Amino acid sequence: MYNIDQIRADFPIFKRIENGKPIVYLDSAASAQKPQCVLDKMTDVYQNSYANVHRSEYLLADEITTLYENARERIQNFISASSSHEIIFTRNATESINLVANTWGLENLQKDDVILVSEAEHHANLTPWQIVAQKTGAKLKVFKISDTGNFLQEEFEKSLKDNVKLVAVTAMSNVLGTIFPIRQIIQKAHQVGAKVLVDACQGVVHQKTDVQDLDCDFLAFSGHKLYGPTGIGVLYIKSEISKDMPPYQTGGDMVDTVTYEKTTYALPPARFEAGTPAIVEAIGLGEAVSYLSKIGMENISSYEKELLTYFNQKANELPHFKIIGTAKNKGGVISFDYKGIHPQDLSFILSHENVAIRVGHHCAEPLVHRMGYSSIARASFGMYTLKEDIDLFFKALLKADRFF
Ligand code: ALA
Repeated sequence: MYNIDQIRADFPIFKRIENGKPIVYLDSAASAQKPQCVLDKMTDVYQNSYANVHRSEYLLADEITTLYENARERIQNFISASSSHEIIFTRNATESINLVANTWGLENLQKDDVILVSEAEHHANLTPWQIVAQKTGAKLKVFKISDTGNFLQEEFEKSLKDNVKLVAVTAMSNVLGTIFPIRQIIQKAHQVGAKVLVDACQGVVHQKTDVQDLDCDFLAFSGHKLYGPTGIGVLYIKSEISKDMPPYQTGGDMVDTVTYEKTTYALPPARFEAGTPAIVEAIGLGEAVSYLSKIGMENISSYEKELLTYFNQKANELPHFKIIGTAKNKGGVISFDYKGIHPQDLSFILSHENVAIRVGHHCAEPLVHRMGYSSIARASFGMYTLKEDIDLFFKALLKADRFF
């Protein structure tokens, strides 16, 4: 049983009342709120176990190294990786993707190779590939999605030629909510010898992710969207690929031996974690994924599906409310247009009722333009969203009628 009241109570921010009204937080796709256990864990580490990791043997250093490596194992289990060495801590998903682009990408891509991305990519999974293409002479190609935001198998397969060396694709669009059939995409890509990088920023939050079952080569996500702290991200790299990859940044903790003449590098994951990492943030993220695992990602998924059905029913009852992105397989990310009112105005009116949504191009400008807009309003759910939040959203939206 999904105990939404208990889950809601785990997130202290929802105790906040502003002008006599609760906070209606419908911007979890931008960043999610944090459960008390994550906050407590981080405070506890700073208060009782803080030191640097991997460098010394004294009590605190030993304790925190164990906590840090334990967080890596928790994340390994959360995404079902075969080894904790496949989990690299980064700053965020953007850094994870830039790491792959600047190491594997520059090393392996050549003139006339193709990097294939979908029309639904976030800038973080587009711009690094543009730069790699410029530097290597590889071509960046984009496969189409439908006008309603559906993945189009035919379009994908049509683009998947032998010269495709990398498919970089989102697991779930941060604008349209479309859930891409990643397993199928990976299977097809591997048939032509391409590697696959999955941008799982949204995907990992809303569904169970099993990197071994998917057989993906690279998978990137951020901690802050996954109910963990900011400043921490994850990059999964299949062991057989990472062992031959050069480092991204160089410096402390990522070396084997250093002389004035020459440096040899440590094995992954250390090779990719130069300098003091975001230690406490990594431990906080480890706590967040344990919290999620206790509740069960499948349970979170089905609860959010219920919310989406409820939202769609309400939306259907409201004339002139148009959902942008109605893919068959979709999660709790809903871009919308209401009466053609400018998203900025909508956001302003909603914020007077403490209703938080995001507006703009959502770091996916080409996609927003492809859908026919320059700016879009978006409501998105978290595991703690209530049906009452959706009611309050629509109630607040009706206030816009007074002005337009
Ligand atoms: N990429 C995040 C979003 O979709 C920030 O809002």
